[in-house]
Amino acid sequence: MSLVEVRDAVVEFSTQRGAVRALDGVSLDLGEKETLAIVGESGCGKTTLARAILGLQPLAEGSIRVCGREVTGLRAGQAEEVGMVWQDPYASLDPRWTLGRTISEPARTKRVALDVDGLLNQVGLDPSFASRYPHQLSGGQRQRAAIARALALWPPLVICDEPTAALDLSVQAQILNLLRNLKQSGSASFLYISHDLGTVRFLADRIIVMYLGRVVEVGTPEDTFERPLHPYTRMLVDSTPSLTKLGKLPPPAIGEPPDPVTRWQGCRYEGRCQSAVGVCATTEPPWYREGDHVAACHVPNLRNGTENLG
Ligand SMILES: Nc1ncnc2c1ncn2[C@@H]1O[C@H](COP(=O)(O)OP(=O)(O)O)[C@@H](O)[C@H]1O
Ligand SMILES: [Mg+2]
Repeated sequence: MSLVEVRDAVVEFSTQRGAVRALDGVSLDLGEKETLAIVGESGCGKTTLARAILGLQPLAEGSIRVCGREVTGLRAGQAEEVGMVWQDPYASLDPRWTLGRTISEPARTKRVALDVDGLLNQVGLDPSFASRYPHQLSGGQRQRAAIARALALWPPLVICDEPTAALDLSVQAQILNLLRNLKQSGSASFLYISHDLGTVRFLADRIIVMYLGRVVEVGTPEDTFERPLHPYTRMLVDSTPSLTKLGKLPPPAIGEPPDPVTRWQGCRYEGRCQSAVGVCATTEPPWYREGDHVAACHVPNLRNGTENLG
C-alpha cells in the first residue's frame, strides 16, 4: 500500500497578474520505507506540494491520501503521521523554548513517553543540548534539532523541504549523512525536496522531476542521472556539479522558466528545449515509458544518455 497517494492534484493561486497553477495535475505514490525525492527549479511547486500533503494547502482539484486517509485540512493527529523539516529550522523551533521542551512538546500533547536524550543522540547532538535555546546553536545544530522534533513521535512519513539549502557546504554534507543514516536505520518514508539534484542522488530511492507544476520524469537515481529521458532532466543533470565531473565547471542551466501565469497548449518546457519539434508547442506531451522510468515528452532522449557520462 502507498503511504502517500497524490492524484491529479491542482493548486491555483490568484495573483494580481492572473492565476498561477502551482500544481497542475500532479500524481505520485510514496511507498513504505521509501525515500522519494522531488526536484526542480525554484517555483516549480515543490513547497506547494509539501504543504498540500500536510493539509496546509487546499486543492482546487484532485485528492491526497496519507496512510489511507484523505487529507482534508490539518488534522489533529497529524504530528503522529507526518514529521516536517523546513529549510529554515527557526520555523520549527520556538525561540522562547529550550530544545528539550520543543522536542518533547508533541509527545506531551499526545501523552506518550519520549526519550529526549536518546533522540538528541540519534541526530548527533549531545543530551546537554536539551537545555539550550535555538539562538545558542549553529545553523547545523538547529537543523539537527528540527529533525529531532520531526522524528519525536516516529511518524511513518517525514517531509524535508530543502533541509540543507540554508547551510554551509560542509554542514550540508553532515545533515545529508544524518538523513541517510535515519533513512537506513528507521522505519519512516521520506519525501525529500530539493532544487539541487546533486544532494538527491545520495539519498533517494526514486526521483520525481517537476517543471512548472507538472511531473515531467520519474525514475531511479540511476535512470535519472545516467539516462535522463526528458530534455529538462538532462539539462538539470548536465548543470549539476558532481564528483565525477570535479574540476570541470558544469554548463549553466539554459534559460529560465517562463512566466507561471502563462496558459499552455503544448509542453511547458518547449521554449527552452533544444530538442523541441513542431508538435511540442501545440500538443500536450504523452507519457513515454521504459518500465518504471517515465517521462512526459514528445522527443525523449532515447539512445544518447551515455553522452552525459563524459
Ligand atoms: N501563497 C502564494 N500566493 C501566490 N503564489 C504563490 C504562493 N505560494 C506559491 N506561489 C507560486 O506558486 C508557484 C510554486 O511555488 P512553490 O511551491 O513555492 O515552488 P518551489 O518550492 O518549487 O520553489 C510559484 O510560481 C510561486 O510564485
Ligand atoms: Mg520551495
